[in-house]
Amino acid sequence: MDELESFSSLDKETLLQHLGEEERPFGAVVPPLYQNSLFTFERAADLEKVMLKESDAYHYTRIANPTTRLAERKIAMLEGTEECRLFGSGMAAISAAILSVVAQGDHVVCSTAAYGPTQNFLREYMPKFGVATTFADATNLQAVSEAFRPNTKLLYLESPGSLQFEIQDLEALTQLAHEREAVVIADNSTATPIFQQPARFGVDLVVHSVTKYLGGHSDIVAGCVCGSRERLEAMTWREVQFFGATFDPFAAWLLTRSLRTLPIRMQRHQQSATEVALFLRSHPAVEVVNYPGLTDHPARALIEKQMTGASGMLSFRLKNSSKAMAFAVCDRLQLFQIGVSWGGHESLAIPVPLLDGETWVIRLSVGLETASDLIEDLRRALDALGG
Ligand SMILES: Cc1ncc(COP(=O)(O)O)c(C=O)c1O
Repeated sequence: MDELESFSSLDKETLLQHLGEEERPFGAVVPPLYQNSLFTFERAADLEKVMLKESDAYHYTRIANPTTRLAERKIAMLEGTEECRLFGSGMAAISAAILSVVAQGDHVVCSTAAYGPTQNFLREYMPKFGVATTFADATNLQAVSEAFRPNTKLLYLESPGSLQFEIQDLEALTQLAHEREAVVIADNSTATPIFQQPARFGVDLVVHSVTKYLGGHSDIVAGCVCGSRERLEAMTWREVQFFGATFDPFAAWLLTRSLRTLPIRMQRHQQSATEVALFLRSHPAVEVVNYPGLTDHPARALIEKQMTGASGMLSFRLKNSSKAMAFAVCDRLQLFQIGVSWGGHESLAIPVPLLDGETWVIRLSVGLETASDLIEDLRRALDALGG
């Protein structure tokens, strides 16, 4: 990223628009789409250099593609890391990142706030390769410290967490892991690099479900891993090459378009989610609202230290919350659609059980609609509960 140096005085949001776009074929303001699997060479010796890793010329889209590369460079710049690699889904990125760190006989410590399938990958799949995982409440440094074993090679974090948006101390946890020579991976999908850059606190690999806010329009499925050039180059010739979870160039072209509006989308998601959270907290049917953007959040000091915003994700628990009540509220919503993903233009609601299986929360992804309309939708659904 040599150009970064000459751009170093520019704000990240300005760079986001310009980075990697110095050449404009035909004066086109939109970068071209290289929707091809293959790049050929005039001389066999040039291809041989690629095979010998003496040249990083494009040769095959499973390894790299210029359209995908543009989006990768922009994401790396936002995350403040040397490199980024895109994958065909968030889970492809997460599993590749984990597999790039651990080997047979290693042990992992994983936050209990991590995305369910990430936990299941570690709990159910990795033991067949001789990799064991201990799950710990990563809001509690002591609990994480006690979960470490002499063979712990990886600490996996996700802050804010996926459901209750627990805040984990990225700096303190990374320090703890590094003192024990373990690598740290953090899922940054919820905060996005607009509101949090885990690499600033020493996190080694930052992963994303790009399907969520970075894509932002619920029309692509993608993931990425950001980190040092050394780690990402090693991944390119192992996990990227061998697992082949390639991100399609057309989807990468769409992603570059999405990234241009990421900063303003995130501001809007946050503004509306704050209004929604304040409304929910004032409603008599609501017991608890989990939203890192609330000024009296119990982890306020930590939020101010490591985040500059709180995104559009929140969850809330009803008084005497039962599955039937959570379902009834979701079913009555008209603007919020019921669905599993999040981070898109559309507002979504989903009822989810907590670990005890009895208590239910409703998770909201606050979209780009007008906040007062979303609040009215919630008010109608909650008022219908009566008393
Ligand atoms: C926090 C988080 N990380 C990772 C993923 C997985 O991403 P993908 O669905 O793109 O594979 C998800 C998906 O919901 C998620 O919520």
